[in-house]
Amino acid sequence: MNTSLQKPFLLAPSILSADFTHLGDQIREAEEAGVDWIHVDVIDGHFAPNITMGPFIVEACRRVTQLPLDVHLMIENPDRWIATFASAGASSITVHVEATAHLHRMLQTIREVGCKAGVVLNPATPAVMVEPVLHMVDMVLAMTVNPGFSGQEFAPEVLEKIKLISRSLEALHSNALIEVDGGMGPKTLPLAYAAGARVFVAGHGIFRHPQGIAFAVNELRNCLDQH
Ligand code: DX5
Ligand code: ZN
Repeated sequence: MNTSLQKPFLLAPSILSADFTHLGDQIREAEEAGVDWIHVDVIDGHFAPNITMGPFIVEACRRVTQLPLDVHLMIENPDRWIATFASAGASSITVHVEATAHLHRMLQTIREVGCKAGVVLNPATPAVMVEPVLHMVDMVLAMTVNPGFSGQEFAPEVLEKIKLISRSLEALHSNALIEVDGGMGPKTLPLAYAAGARVFVAGHGIFRHPQGIAFAVNELRNCLDQH
């Protein structure tokens, strides 16, 4: 998985909003529309209030696309599952700072199993919580909604935190990408971009767009110019 940036930004549709009766077709349609990663939301009903998908779905996605699979773990005891998700085909694994007392070790483990490593912060978690590990991550994912469900409203208060993280990464001369997740659409993407985000997860905004996946991707791709 190449996390260096050749485009102004990367789009990572979240399959949490996809039609699971046609998951393969939905992923192929997104890939043909030019998305960059496929974002997989793993929720266990404990860390966050929903029960979604596990390694089995990652493995199924791996069979229908060559795109990087960006696995977002919203589970308790994520350390128990890193190797399993890597074997299932994850390209990157992001873990919540709130979900573990051993973040440093977990990021090491993610890299040891051959994946890109990301750390995630809930909207209420301050940037300072990830400062000690910024030198060892490929991505920092700032949640712009509370984890659990697609289709929630973007939380603008996260923008200041994105700016802080962006400055910290710059000071470290780090190439780590800031990713945002939740409530992304043509109006909110430019705000997060201006704050420093470069990877945009979108669920509803892509898979539930009334004019279809290709239209949605195109609209997001061009929304900076229209802003
Ligand atoms: C929330 C998930 C998100 C969610 C985004 O727990 O992490 O990836 O699917 O959905 P939208 O883009 O619909 O807000
Ligand atoms: Zn997510």
